[in-house]
Amino acid sequence: MSKKLYISTYGCQMNVYDSARMADLMAPLGYTLTDKPADADMAILNTCHIREKASEKTFSELGRLRNMRQDKKAKQDGDMIIAVAGCVAQAEGAEIMKRAPYVDMVFGPQSYHHLPQMVAQATRGVGHILETDFPVEPKFDHLPEDAIDKNLSAFLTVQEGCDKFCAFCVVPYTRGAEFSRPVASIVDEAKRMIASGTKEITLLGQNVNAYHGEGADGKPASLATLIQKLAEIDGLHRLRYTTSHPLEMTEDLCRAHRDVEILMPYLHLPVQAGSDRILAAMNRRHTSDEYRRIIDKLRHYRPDLALSGDFIVGFPGETEQEFEDTLQLVRDVEYAQAYSFKYSPRPGTPAAALGDEMVEETVKSERLARLQQLLNEQQLAYNRSFVGKEIDVLLEREGKREGQLVGRSPYMQSVFVPSPAHRIGRIATVIVQEGNANSLRGELKPGSVADAA
Ligand code: SAH
Ligand code: SF4
Ligand code: F3S
Repeated sequence: MSKKLYISTYGCQMNVYDSARMADLMAPLGYTLTDKPADADMAILNTCHIREKASEKTFSELGRLRNMRQDKKAKQDGDMIIAVAGCVAQAEGAEIMKRAPYVDMVFGPQSYHHLPQMVAQATRGVGHILETDFPVEPKFDHLPEDAIDKNLSAFLTVQEGCDKFCAFCVVPYTRGAEFSRPVASIVDEAKRMIASGTKEITLLGQNVNAYHGEGADGKPASLATLIQKLAEIDGLHRLRYTTSHPLEMTEDLCRAHRDVEILMPYLHLPVQAGSDRILAAMNRRHTSDEYRRIIDKLRHYRPDLALSGDFIVGFPGETEQEFEDTLQLVRDVEYAQAYSFKYSPRPGTPAAALGDEMVEETVKSERLARLQQLLNEQQLAYNRSFVGKEIDVLLEREGKREGQLVGRSPYMQSVFVPSPAHRIGRIATVIVQEGNANSLRGELKPGSVADAA
């Protein structure tokens, strides 16, 4: 009998990767995915703890699941196992059990490979299951062979955890210490992905450029070395990596952007702030000029590199002038795209102890609006600069409109083109006609995609 599994995913791409692996682990137990929680025999919330808003969603969604479970029982339509996974589970496991005692199991990002055992226990009715220790064995060694992302553009986790301890951030506590998978096991996973149709791989890690997994010679290999190894695999057309920290933007990695043809000219390199005092208070361990020099070096090797970043406004004690320094850095760098957030104090982080230096909420909102206006202007100007140019697009899926496909440019822009669906999976040359705030529009260059006979 097929059972239904509902997974709701919040947070970063690593959670997206993990959710897909959980589905892979549950498949042999007879669970198929559903997007309707009311029908589910099991529901997993894969949660994010990064900001207060993200974290609070856990409890509101749990309330909804509890009602659905009660409805199911009232209709004598079976039961529902409710599980909380991810970073809120790791940080607040015991709290979840207390506030939501109807939850059957809570487990952190490093122990979901125990899912089959946990589900067996839950169905035996052994009571609540809480697994938030960091297991010694890496979960990657315990995932089924076919537990891989089979999308055209797919994720591959190569590194987890973080040892940086930025003053505002929960990740080192929720994901644990830095861990890198060995090169051989990543190459193996990449080959299986490519054999199943993947054309583009994004290497994932909370701190992906701190990668130092075991290489063929038994010594630690750098991310640049890993990228070179992956680039040798036949059938892989595009490679990306995210998210990086400026401190580990090493010479060999910067150079890879010139030398490795399939490494796409796009880099997400968060800086958070432009003031040196704030950067030091955040424990980012570099100055704004050091960041500018890294950008110069990257653009030296790859002049057309598209840059993306993350910014936090209203870190405790941030003055108007210090915020202006962030705006100045943005003007100097010119981003193709970026994310920005209001500082959110997180329990247990060093910055949360700076409570009395809090920037007022209205000031934070006003600064965020000014920053986002500047970033939006840059993004629009960037996208408009493509009008009339030709770019390669990996056609990934159907667009919202009939007869339209959408894919990504090398620079991560979404590109919409009129095209029949059978071209999904091709890399086509597109002549850009329109550059908008969040996407490009164009048409296929005649003859650029050979149609199958
Ligand atoms: N590992 C990545 C990203 C981690 S979280 C890195 O180091 O860049 C993604 C982004 O969320 C961060 O870059 C930061 O901009 C933001 N963020 C993290 N903690 C935050 C907090 N307490 N308040 C607001 N934004 C936060
Ligand atoms: Fe968080 Fe800093 Fe680590 Fe990024 S580098 S995950 S922001 S602690
Ligand atoms: Fe959120 Fe955890 Fe990712 S806190 S951003 S899901 S690492």
